[in-house]
Amino acid sequence: MSLDQLYPGETRILGHRGASAYAPMNTLPAFELAADQGADGIELDVHLSKDGALIVLHDFTVDHTTNGIGLVREMTLAELKTLDAGIKFKPTFAGTRIPTLDEVFEHVGHRFSIINVEIKSETENTDGVEQITADTIRRHNMAGKVIVSSFNPLALRRFRQIAPEVPIGYLYAPDYTFLPEIMDALPHEARHPHYSQIDAAYMTAARAAGWRVNTWTVNDPLRARELKALGVDAVITDKPDLMVEALRG
Ligand code: G3P
Ligand code: CA
Repeated sequence: MSLDQLYPGETRILGHRGASAYAPMNTLPAFELAADQGADGIELDVHLSKDGALIVLHDFTVDHTTNGIGLVREMTLAELKTLDAGIKFKPTFAGTRIPTLDEVFEHVGHRFSIINVEIKSETENTDGVEQITADTIRRHNMAGKVIVSSFNPLALRRFRQIAPEVPIGYLYAPDYTFLPEIMDALPHEARHPHYSQIDAAYMTAARAAGWRVNTWTVNDPLRARELKALGVDAVITDKPDLMVEALRG
């Protein structure tokens, strides 16, 4: 599988949970703003609700970013939709709702050339999130612009079996690398390391393995320029405007 269509020659800029420095993370206003600021794509996080809806939210609970309390997996989509996902960020965003991945594809899918869907999964067994993610991507005909990533190789392996046409990326950080031996046996198109893990040797090894390198969370213009010089394929940032200025200005 080739990702060449996603990387037309220069470092891509992806809004991390949208333009999340300026608008409530993982909401439509944050994704719209990322596009307005010139991002090539967005990164977002998905979970399944109690009734099997694929919703876009970072945490496993709604506590941090909404006016509600509770585990996403114990709430129905109707319950999740009553919550305000904007007011805690800033009162001017009051009334902003948690979006579904369907809604994100419908409203902003056409504005981006890359959408990085991160499957949040911390369990050995699946709740079905990989199947619903694949179904959603296919329903919107988005396989050509989506990369599915996860910190959980078990989720990536399940997703690969369900939707081999969609590229996958392995997420890890200096203090969190889960089951890397599974990835040794699972062909994958991209690696998503924390930016502190990247140097020339890393890039040489990644190229030898045939991996694209999408790194996070890059908000410092100086580091962004270094990463571009090293040849990373994408920077995932809370501040697309700063990255556009640093890398294209
Ligand atoms: O995908 C990169 C980054 O989003 C991974 O960490 O916690 O922000 O989802 P987190
Ligand atoms: Ca994420």
